[in-house]
Amino acid sequence: MTKPIYLLNGPNLNLLGKRQPEVYGRETLADVQAKCEALATELGLTLRCLQSNWEGQIIDWIHQARDEGAGIVINPGAFTHTSVAILDALNAFDGPVLEVHISNVHKRESFRHHSYVSLRAEGVIAGFGTEGYLLALRRMKTLVAA
Ligand code: DQA
Repeated sequence: MTKPIYLLNGPNLNLLGKRQPEVYGRETLADVQAKCEALATELGLTLRCLQSNWEGQIIDWIHQARDEGAGIVINPGAFTHTSVAILDALNAFDGPVLEVHISNVHKRESFRHHSYVSLRAEGVIAGFGTEGYLLALRRMKTLVAA
């Protein structure tokens, strides 16, 4: 059996569709995960979709992916800009890592311009709305096949 791709979402992304819809859109996280599952099936990938508001939980899932995951697609939310611990965990993971942001973080406040996770990620998608997750999965398919 092929190992799953971990699709990790960080803090506040459980409120997708309700929080700042002008920034993050009206789709819920469940909508986005369902679209990702459908695309993954089409691409022949298995997904493990997880969301937490807790930094330690996200780190534990990244550790789990060391043994059980083929790759990681992560939107770390605000931890993107603060978490050396998530960067360290990702650095302990051997497979491909792709970073997704729904909004264009570079068009926003300057504190959102720096990402610790980008120091590890093979690629970054920002500002493509929730479609960014689908683009990341297509790229992940190429990376895990290589
Ligand atoms: C975000 C951008 C972050 O700056 C913010 O803290 C989020 C979401 C995005 O998807 O655009 O929570 O990662």
